Amino acid sequence: MRVRRTSGFTAAVLAVAVTGLSTAAISIAGSQAAIASTGPQAAAAAVPDPTTSTLRELARHTKLRVGTAVDTAALQSDTTYRTIVAQQFSSVTPENVMKWESVEAERGVYDFAAADTLVDFARAHGQKVRGHTLLWHNQLPAWLTSGTWTKAELRSILRAHIFAEAGHFRGRIWAWDVVNEAFNDDGTLRDTLWLRVIGPSYLADAFKWAHQADPKAILFYNDYNIEGINPKSDAVFDLVRSLRSAGVPVQGVGLQGHLGTQYDAPGDVLQNLRRFAALGVDTAITEADVRSVLPVDSAELQAQANGYSLMMESCLLVRSCVSYTVWGFTDKYQWVPGVFEGQGAAALYDENYVARPAYDALRRDLALAPTLGSRGQTP
Ligand code: XIL
Repeated sequence: MRVRRTSGFTAAVLAVAVTGLSTAAISIAGSQAAIASTGPQAAAAAVPDPTTSTLRELARHTKLRVGTAVDTAALQSDTTYRTIVAQQFSSVTPENVMKWESVEAERGVYDFAAADTLVDFARAHGQKVRGHTLLWHNQLPAWLTSGTWTKAELRSILRAHIFAEAGHFRGRIWAWDVVNEAFNDDGTLRDTLWLRVIGPSYLADAFKWAHQADPKAILFYNDYNIEGINPKSDAVFDLVRSLRSAGVPVQGVGLQGHLGTQYDAPGDVLQNLRRFAALGVDTAITEADVRSVLPVDSAELQAQANGYSLMMESCLLVRSCVSYTVWGFTDKYQWVPGVFEGQGAAALYDENYVARPAYDALRRDLALAPTLGSRGQTP
């Protein structure tokens, strides 16, 4: 069994994480043995060399889509950035250009140009697209947040937006983050425009409308701090269970995966993914990054690799986990420093595109993953 590096996260958390992951490592090793018994040549064909292959090449045998959030301005202006997106990833998520303020800055006037460019890029490079996001409380246009709306008006605005956007991309989006970040950390519903004016029924409405607008897209609920089992992930679990039992088309749960080496890593990601799988939904790691307080030292970079790896290994071991997306792959354009003061170094590559230990950790994880014929519950 391979030895995990253990610097960085606190001892107590590591004990939990290592207990969980030692089972993971055994299962992965077991599946490799099974592959080897079918003949060394078959195994060699199925799993490329982890020291020289790209993430997407290594993920193919386990049917996992490895994705990145894409900054569409960088995609246009920076050749190295563009090359890495194409070579390393088999799925893309627009970092900003499908958000409400980007596509409908003026009421009823839609601009999908930037997002269309990314969807075309993905098609040209054999990549899936995760649509992000139809309904959120952030990055809303001013006309929407500064208006005074009745419940009926706001419902019809939301309905029109979802039909316009999901309808525009109909058939070209693999999975939609339909609702983003609707809960507080204590498991209560977040106080947003949507909750205040429409009430909790906005959640079911959003999924129903998205399904009508694009029946083939896999519809996700997406949130942060729901990687482990806690009051917030319990609330998401209850929501998804009750929506599904009422026939509402929620088909996936996205764990954003924004971790930091200064915090305890969740010890029970695997168990959490498994309980969501038992509800019959797909799961995904949708926005992985592991930040540190700057400047970083080598122990923090090892802890970062452990954080990325913890989420990857957990995902690989659960058949319902269909994709693992990083929220930007280079510090050159990464969102963390702009939002968390004094923090950064969160991506797989630094600002000069030098890969960090986390990148090799993910390559090894992928190479050791079970070879699967399919992932996910929805075809
Ligand atoms: C972030 C983008 O990365 C930034 O460029 C933007 O300024 C703010 O939003 N959770 C989400 C993402 O669901 O949409 C956020 O993206 C990061 C947190």
